[in-house]
Amino acid sequence: MKKNTPLPPLDAAEQKRYIEVMRAENDRVFESTGKRRGAFIETFGCQQNVADSEKFAGMCVSMGYAIVKEAADADFIVVNTCAIREHAEKRTLSIIGQYKHLKEKNPALVIAVCGCMMAQEHRQDDIKFRYPYVDFVMGPSSLHRLPQLLCQKLKTGKRIYCPEEAEYTVVEDLPIRRESDYRAWVSVMYGCNNFCSYCIVPYVRGRERSREKDKIIAEVQELVAAGYKDITLLGQNVNSYAKDRADGYDFADLLAELDAIDGDFVLRFMTSHPKDASRKLIDVMASSKHIAHQFHLPMQSGSDRILSAMNRHYDTARYLDIVDYMKEKMPDVTITSDIIVGFPGETEEDFEGTMQMLSHVQFDMLYSFIYSPRKGTPAALMEQVPREVTAVRFDRLLALQKEIGQARNEELVGKTLRVLCDGVSKGNEALYSGRTEGNKIAFFEGTSADTGKFINVTVERADAFALWGKKQ
Ligand code: SAH
Ligand code: SF4
Ligand code: F3S
Repeated sequence: MKKNTPLPPLDAAEQKRYIEVMRAENDRVFESTGKRRGAFIETFGCQQNVADSEKFAGMCVSMGYAIVKEAADADFIVVNTCAIREHAEKRTLSIIGQYKHLKEKNPALVIAVCGCMMAQEHRQDDIKFRYPYVDFVMGPSSLHRLPQLLCQKLKTGKRIYCPEEAEYTVVEDLPIRRESDYRAWVSVMYGCNNFCSYCIVPYVRGRERSREKDKIIAEVQELVAAGYKDITLLGQNVNSYAKDRADGYDFADLLAELDAIDGDFVLRFMTSHPKDASRKLIDVMASSKHIAHQFHLPMQSGSDRILSAMNRHYDTARYLDIVDYMKEKMPDVTITSDIIVGFPGETEEDFEGTMQMLSHVQFDMLYSFIYSPRKGTPAALMEQVPREVTAVRFDRLLALQKEIGQARNEELVGKTLRVLCDGVSKGNEALYSGRTEGNKIAFFEGTSADTGKFINVTVERADAFALWGKKQ
């Protein structure tokens, strides 16, 4: 497919006009049928995408749609895609494939495919040639164009392949419809400048750009005033926050300002890059009132050679230095990490390095991934590790982490922890579940009045992934 010229920038007033056009049309349908048109939003990928989907939902509600829980009930489907690993992409395409029969049943159904996969030309081509019933596609930087593209599609009847934006910007003041009324996501910055050699994110999300601190502070203040209890600040590398502004203000300063907000709430953030995680940041956390003693610090590998090939800009000594400082300042800190197994060129010795780091750091939890080659990234061109070798290493890593996770969680038996209750547990309806300040899942006997509230739970039993206890 040939690269299209970018669309002219869309300002807030114009965006509002498109919303109003759709609103008038959807209100008219509601008045004549008694039923609101439904919008269904399907989300893949990381918390950034979850946060973006809350904006898609906000725009849909402003346009007069009711958000529905089943694709089959929708007049408008938005698929928010993820490109991080091949598995994620394949699953998404297969789900888009299943929407074909919905379109056959209801030709008026509009299907939009958005998100990171659609910032890649070859994936836009997949949709163009293999999924002809998809009405329009756009990448994450064009999120605010949803009403515009929807209006254009309905007016012209033509499929739209939205080109990448001429410039990556921060679009403020989009309507947000949050999934929860006590947990909230707040993006503090977008994009990534790091170009880790395996990762697609910088290509699909563009360069780093930070939101104005006053906008972030106002949003968090509003959330706290509205009763939100658990607020997570989001960015691909939050420690780069405001580096594009060059006035010396940094993420630790932002955290300190947010911590000063009055109220009963917990503040978290993700993700930190070990090359930028500073002692100042840890000091702010340790002396804070609201910041959870929880740190997600992706290590990726325990081999200095591999870390260098990954273009991560730190070594294991630097990683351990941060971890040691964190443990010294916050003995109760929960540390989690991301690990990639089978990065190109990973030898048995490199992998042993990762296993040793696991034993040394004693992570509370790991998100481990088998390396997946991403088109256009440098690592995809390097010599790949055979699947069978990677599979054995992956199982060994999971087994070791299971032991460590179990031991870490058992240390909490007998302790009373503050848990934010999420309601009846999905897996076992006799129990309620919630998250501790360290973001661990806890199960207990609760009541519906506990949902969305902090309660104290004394831990009685633990496995590698969860805690069980008694409500106080
Ligand atoms: N910005 C965050 C994480 C972004 S993606 C960070 O830098 O930590 C989340 C995780 O997916 C990464 O930490 C990495 O472990 C994993 N990941 C990214 N690209 C991958 C790939 N090509 N194959 C396997 N795992 C990958
Ligand atoms: Fe990807 Fe690295 Fe950026 Fe994280 S820091 S999003 S792993 S390029
Ligand atoms: Fe996936 Fe995009 Fe997030 S590629 S992991 S949804 S930034």
